[in-house]
Amino acid sequence: MAPDPRIAPSILSADFARLAEAAAAVGGADWLHVDVMDNHFVPNLTLGLPVVRSLLAATGIPLDCHLMITDPDRWAPAYGEAGAHNVTVHAEAAADPAALARDLRATGALAGLAIKPGTPLEPYLEVLRGYDTLLVMTVEPGFGGQEFRSEVLPKVREARRRVESGHLTLAIEVDGGINADTIAAAAEAGADVFVAGSAVYAADDPARAVADLRDRARKAA
Ligand code: DX5
Ligand code: ZN
Repeated sequence: MAPDPRIAPSILSADFARLAEAAAAVGGADWLHVDVMDNHFVPNLTLGLPVVRSLLAATGIPLDCHLMITDPDRWAPAYGEAGAHNVTVHAEAAADPAALARDLRATGALAGLAIKPGTPLEPYLEVLRGYDTLLVMTVEPGFGGQEFRSEVLPKVREARRRVESGHLTLAIEVDGGINADTIAAAAEAGADVFVAGSAVYAADDPARAVADLRDRARKAA
């Protein structure tokens, strides 16, 4: 059985001129998801370490930094050193994901590994033993507001099976297209951390949207 669901609103869908207010609007959130994009790994550019530092000072919600960047081996540990709670790097971008997990944990942060929809889980099963979270992308990384890709769920199921059997000790996070209609399928498959951008920040009451998503995930899991 998956642990109690955690909801991580993605500020990618918030007003970038009002990020402190965006954090305050989701006071009941478990993690605040911060999408770092470098215009190289993905065709979009968002924010980096200076903004993460400001956010850390502005909110008590643990920051979940999702680094969609090239050369995370070089750039990711600084996010942990700054105080991010969880730092996730992409498997497709990391040169040495096993060493990077150790470097991330040495900063005091949790280490996360993300895989894109087309990236298989199997080649990373051993290296994932050194990670704390697995982020299964349920859209192509780069943009919010895309449609959930349910064909990715077998990877979530397989990861949950590996956790249940004791091979892995991981939180299983899904990111992309999570909303009131799709969260149950992801929870049933075994995810326990749910990133939601547009579903939270397009809602009239973002805090209520967070509570509603958590409820739905709980019922499905
Ligand atoms: C996409 C980002 C997601 C994005 C999700 O590359 O990693 O975190 O904010 O947005 P929604 O929930 O709108 O799909
Ligand atoms: Zn993300």
